[in-house]
Amino acid sequence: MGETSATLENPPAQSPSFTTTKLTKPEEVSKYMTQLCQILQDCVNQGASIGFLAPLSTEEATTYWTQVSNLITTPTQHLFILTSSSSTPSNPPNPTILATVQLTVSPKITHVHKAEVVKLLVAPSARRQGIARKLMEHVEDFARDEGKEFLVLDTATESPAREMYRRLGWEEWGTCKDYASWPDGSRCDATFFRKELGTIRTQEEE
Ligand SMILES: CC(C)(COP(=O)(O)OP(=O)(O)OC[C@H]1O[C@@H](n2cnc3c(N)ncnc32)[C@H](O)[C@@H]1OP(=O)(O)O)[C@@H](O)C(=O)NCCC(=O)NCCS
Repeated sequence: MGETSATLENPPAQSPSFTTTKLTKPEEVSKYMTQLCQILQDCVNQGASIGFLAPLSTEEATTYWTQVSNLITTPTQHLFILTSSSSTPSNPPNPTILATVQLTVSPKITHVHKAEVVKLLVAPSARRQGIARKLMEHVEDFARDEGKEFLVLDTATESPAREMYRRLGWEEWGTCKDYASWPDGSRCDATFFRKELGTIRTQEEE
C-alpha cells in the first residue's frame, strides 16, 4: 500500500526541474515579460506590500519590468528568476517562472560591502514548496561570491514573509512604524532584517 505503479498507458508525471538564472540583458527580460508581469500583478493584487497599489495593471507592471531591464546591465542591480521546466521527448522544455528576486547594491563606495534583497516574489501556485528558500540560497551564494559581507531587506511587519525570513535565518533588527503602504493604500509598519554571509553553507543546510 502507498506505492504507485506506472503503466505505459498512464506514465508517471515527470517531476519538473528547477533552474535559477541571472538575467543580464534587456532582451532576456522581454522574453519573460508576460510571466514577470503576471507574477508581480498576482502578488500585489493578493495583498503583498511591495511598492504598488492594487489593482496593478499590466501596463504599470510592464513599465516597472522595463525599468528593471534597463538597470540589470549595471553592476548595481541583479535580477534572478527560478524556472521550472518539464519536458518529454515530444515536448521541448518550456520554462515557467515560479519566482523572482533582485539584489541591489548601493553605488556609494562606503556601502559596497553589503547588498539589499528586493522583490522576492513566488507565484501563488508554487508557494510552500521551498521555492523561496531555494532562490534565496542561490542569491546568498551569489552575493558571497561577489564579496558581500551581509544582506539587508525589509518587509511588512504583518506579512507572512516576516516568518519566512526568520525561518531562513535572517536576523530582525528593527521595526519602523508606518514605513510603507499596503496595496489598498493603508499604512503598514516594516521590519528590517540582516543576514551575515560569512560562512559557506554546510551540507546539512543544503
Ligand atoms: C513570502 C513568500 C516569498 C514565500 O515563498 P514560498 O516559496 O512559499 O516559501 P518557502 O516554501 O520557500 O518557505 C520557506 C520557509 O518559510 C516558511 N513560510 C513560507 N510561507 C509562509 C507563511 N505564509 N507563513 C509562515 N511561514 C511561511 C516555510 O514554512 C519555510 O520554512 P520551513 O522550511 O522551516 O518549513 C511568498 O509567499 C510570496 O511571494 N509572497 C508574496 C510576495 C511577498 O510578500 N514577498 C516578500 C517581499 S519582502
